Amino acid sequence: MSNRHWELIEIPLLVNELRVQDVWHSFKEGNPALKGISFSLPRATMMAIMGPSGSGKTTLLQVLLGEIKARKARIMLDGKDLGANMQVFQQYIAYVPQDDLLFANLSVYENLYYKLKLCLPEMKDASEIRKRIHNLLRSVDLYEQRHLMVGDVMNKKLSGGQRRRLNIALELITGPAILILDEPTSGLSTKDSESIVQLLGELRDQGKIIISTIHQPNASIFNSFDRVLLMDKGGVQVYFGNSEAAFGYFSEELKELEDFLAKAKAEAENAEFFFDLIESRDASLQRLYDPEYWENKYRDFSFLQAIQYDSTNNNHEDEQKTPEKIQTELQKYGHSLPA
Ligand SMILES: Nc1ncnc2c1ncn2[C@@H]1O[C@H](COP(=O)(O)OP(=O)(O)OP(=O)(O)O)[C@@H](O)[C@H]1O
Ligand SMILES: [Mg+2]
Repeated sequence: MSNRHWELIEIPLLVNELRVQDVWHSFKEGNPALKGISFSLPRATMMAIMGPSGSGKTTLLQVLLGEIKARKARIMLDGKDLGANMQVFQQYIAYVPQDDLLFANLSVYENLYYKLKLCLPEMKDASEIRKRIHNLLRSVDLYEQRHLMVGDVMNKKLSGGQRRRLNIALELITGPAILILDEPTSGLSTKDSESIVQLLGELRDQGKIIISTIHQPNASIFNSFDRVLLMDKGGVQVYFGNSEAAFGYFSEELKELEDFLAKAKAEAENAEFFFDLIESRDASLQRLYDPEYWENKYRDFSFLQAIQYDSTNNNHEDEQKTPEKIQTELQKYGHSLPA
């Protein structure tokens, strides 16, 4: 996928920081779906969300999109409250859902054309519209296929990877600053998955914030992400941080584990390791580490991080680490001092 024409695509909006603090949610019927999720991402960052089925990944995406109103949440874009300014911020955020949203009886070009007409009705100049769509087609590597009828599952014209790239292109039409995707690589071959993630990396390099749930990434895909958010059943935050530091985070459990396979995977920095470890079971199929275990481990970890931050930033003898200061730092990680 060479010969990209990114420089021609306008980026009208940029966000310098997305800060998510302490998101709690539970559905009426049930148990907690999100249990104090916190992370913060600077511009030009790509985050993977990973965790077992039902751990709340899609729910978290929907909260970020304002589709679900969380019981408790503090989500800030450049210091401004997302919920209170949703009308304004909606145009900054685009969502590529897991399901295909393409019109089977329209060509690749026409799918983009009607989406543009719908989203940007003020854009009237025919040559400007054509130019924008052509640029977009080149950037997602679908220029050659622009006249192909999209077709449907029964009558396949575009490959799975091409369909996924067209779905992404549809959401890029408005030039969003934050792109949120739910399992963009599921069902695709390794090669197609890698090309999707490469595309996401290019969008990140333009300054966008990319947030994507991802299923069983191989090492190359996992390493393309700058940050990772690991979740467990009940919407527990197992880990948030640099993706390369994630393996080290579990060294203690790894020492306890007798699972040869998990150790080999950790050594190979294989992302499947996280799933093996988070949900690892003993001979009677009992989980070795339940969600509360991970919740507590992460709480201790972010507590230590906050104190370390405090001591590196306050080296003067006269500046005491007051509980108030630590509390302020902890709140940045979405935590508070234990009562
Ligand atoms: N609208 C809803 N009403 C009630 N419960 C829901 C609703 N949506 C999700 N849940 C529950 O919340 C939990 C988290 O669901 P969610 O879809 O976010 O999981 P997920 O991590 O995306 O899973 P998967 O990997 O299977 O996509 C699950 O237990 C699910 O049953
Ligand atoms: Mg999901």
